[in-house]
Amino acid sequence: MSEVNPILSGSAQSVAAYQEAIEQSTRAVVEWLKQPEMYQGKTVEQLRERIQLAFTSEGLGNQAAIERAVEYFLKDSLSVHHPQCVAHLHCPSLVISQAAEVLINATNQSMDSWDQSPSATIIEVKLIEWLRDRVGYAAGDAGVFTSGGTQSNLMGLMLARDAFFARQGHSVQQHGLMGNLSKLKVFCSKEAHFSVQKNMALMGLGYQSVTLVETDAFSRMDVTDLKAKLAQAKANGEQVMAIVATAGTTDAGAIDPLTEIAALASEENIWMHVDAAWGGALLLSEHYRHYLNGLELADSVTLDFHKQFFQTISCGAFLLKDARHYELMRYQAAYLNSDFDEEHGVPNLVSKSLQTTRRFDALKLWMGLEALGKKQYAAIIDNGVTLAQQVAEYVQAQPELELVMTPQLASVLFRFRPEQQDPAFVALLNQRIGDVLLASGSANVGVTEANGITCLKMTLLNPTVCLDDVKVLLASVKETAQKLLTA
Ligand SMILES: Cc1ncc(COP(=O)(O)O)c(C=O)c1O
Repeated sequence: MSEVNPILSGSAQSVAAYQEAIEQSTRAVVEWLKQPEMYQGKTVEQLRERIQLAFTSEGLGNQAAIERAVEYFLKDSLSVHHPQCVAHLHCPSLVISQAAEVLINATNQSMDSWDQSPSATIIEVKLIEWLRDRVGYAAGDAGVFTSGGTQSNLMGLMLARDAFFARQGHSVQQHGLMGNLSKLKVFCSKEAHFSVQKNMALMGLGYQSVTLVETDAFSRMDVTDLKAKLAQAKANGEQVMAIVATAGTTDAGAIDPLTEIAALASEENIWMHVDAAWGGALLLSEHYRHYLNGLELADSVTLDFHKQFFQTISCGAFLLKDARHYELMRYQAAYLNSDFDEEHGVPNLVSKSLQTTRRFDALKLWMGLEALGKKQYAAIIDNGVTLAQQVAEYVQAQPELELVMTPQLASVLFRFRPEQQDPAFVALLNQRIGDVLLASGSANVGVTEANGITCLKMTLLNPTVCLDDVKVLLASVKETAQKLLTA
């Protein structure tokens, strides 16, 4: 066979090229990590102008392609590990997660069938069994790794919908949707992630199918309103296929009252899905695990490891309480998960996933858990939650700042309060503070709304960040505000 240089293989030439390319890239990353700035501050227009594709007929070769990626991608990337990078649920990654990526990428296993990922399949299955145990589900392996929260929520909603129709003797998988679909509803709180709406639209039921339940002052689902809206739905002849509770809303980190919601769902025979994309990290917590009490009552659960589990993107999971519901999405492809395989107990994970070709992201969690151990993993998760409480106290002691909500997980919602109190002016000022900080490259602070108030958000996932770092950030918030006020 002729030697094709660019392909990774065991040939001496390929191994040398691989090592060179990886070492060149690693050296560049090490240099980039030393950059003190969070972001170089380039605007959209500047980056559009600067970044040009160079697809030549002869090719540039690995070395030049890597050099160009360093110049045009790496240098203007956001340093997610920077202490002032706190806008989103976007975590810095574990070193071990980087090592796992090397193994995942080099081996390029595909999780759809056992013959494409023998050891990887078994590791993923064992992790799913372990995660189920942490949640409090019965022993089993119903669940799968996903690309993240959006896909896991889609799986929960899709199975809830199909289980709803199956109870009426109708298979959506075989015959599609039927009946008066405008009467089919999903309930979630006003603060639930927008992927509920997007997924319902994708499932052919539209945004109109989502009934939003009011929240309390801490952004948690208001169970009284849930009861009232369920009763109203009944009176309107509507049918509720699922209640989506959130364990860790995107901004406030609010955890809905899971046990109470589960009791209502069970009374009404409604599927309960819990989006624990963020709060699921507390499964490993030493101090805050009890926040998730009631999670085990859900029919399905979303977990996301590229949030407060500090794994590289992408890495999520979907857990299904009762494995029998997987029948609702069963599809047998002769070339992947044949009857023969199933009869012989070959675990072809395509049967459990919406994806076909799929990355072996489970390796990152496995290696993370083994490398850090339970104690250290718990400590880096708990750090953010505890830090948010300390930061909230500090914010309350600053006369120019206002704490907008008491923190529940690792986020702090606050705003700058000038003497001029006109709400529209205060909202615009806080929006501008966020924009100016990012444009300067010094900080990325979130701008969002909580209880109708435009405010700033710090998502304090980074376990290397301490109160002093946050004080520096808050000082720049105040300084920026003063500059904007005098301009
Ligand atoms: C509560 C919640 N659920 C779901 C998601 C979507 O997760 P992903 O971005 O991994 O698809 C997010 C994203 O921030 C989230 O905050």
